[in-house]
Amino acid sequence: MTPGVRPLVAGNWKMNGSRASLAECRILGDGFRDGLHSRTDALLIPPATLLMATADILAGTAVCVGAQDCAFDERGAHTGDLSAEMLADAGASFVVVGHSERRLDHGDTNATVRAKAVAAWRGGLVAVICVGETREECDAGKTFDVLSRQIEESVPGRATSQSTVIAYEPVWAIGSGDTPSLEVVARTHAHIRARLKDKMGTDAAKVRILYGGSVNPSNGNELIGADNVDGALVGRAAMTGADFLSLLRAMFC
Ligand code: PGA
Repeated sequence: MTPGVRPLVAGNWKMNGSRASLAECRILGDGFRDGLHSRTDALLIPPATLLMATADILAGTAVCVGAQDCAFDERGAHTGDLSAEMLADAGASFVVVGHSERRLDHGDTNATVRAKAVAAWRGGLVAVICVGETREECDAGKTFDVLSRQIEESVPGRATSQSTVIAYEPVWAIGSGDTPSLEVVARTHAHIRARLKDKMGTDAAKVRILYGGSVNPSNGNELIGADNVDGALVGRAAMTGADFLSLLRAMFC
């Protein structure tokens, strides 16, 4: 963790969940109380179909709600897209941009991700900007080069520690059960912090840098103990309310 920086743990449901899953939101909201909330922020990121109902359920709780992606424009002829303003109207306060699944499945480039981050701010949302290398890039020793370039090109110059969260997710660690060693995570997060400092100056010290990729109750506590790891972006281990709470307890209690 970074001293003086409040951690954030985000649970991303990806393309999972139906109305029945709203019961999980209630469990999470009810369980995320003083013992946990005094130690960390929590963010639930349901699919867009459940965003409004999730936000309504979590309204009286300390759990924040986010969306998984946004369009660049505020409105218009973009069938299938959702603007940051629409997501904010539905109750989101965060939006993930540049998740590797969007980069790979939908061709989101660094320039696209940057434009989406700017759109997120315009709509009043915090942008969670994802970066991370592929297995091939990792094996070729290119991780730092890839991350430097992603940060240079995906993080807008006007980013602040209030408007922006960075999620470092090695693509090969997502959903695989495989994670980098703690030393590698700490070294990589330090590299990201240094590149953010080049871009943002002293405010970079307060940016939350999340680790993502196979975080679970067994590795969450040591990950959050690493320098410059200010939380986690989690898929599988946060799909139910009880699992999300177990993970938070394992990380912080
Ligand atoms: P995972 O997903 O926790 O299931 O590895 C992480 C992510 O894609 O953000």
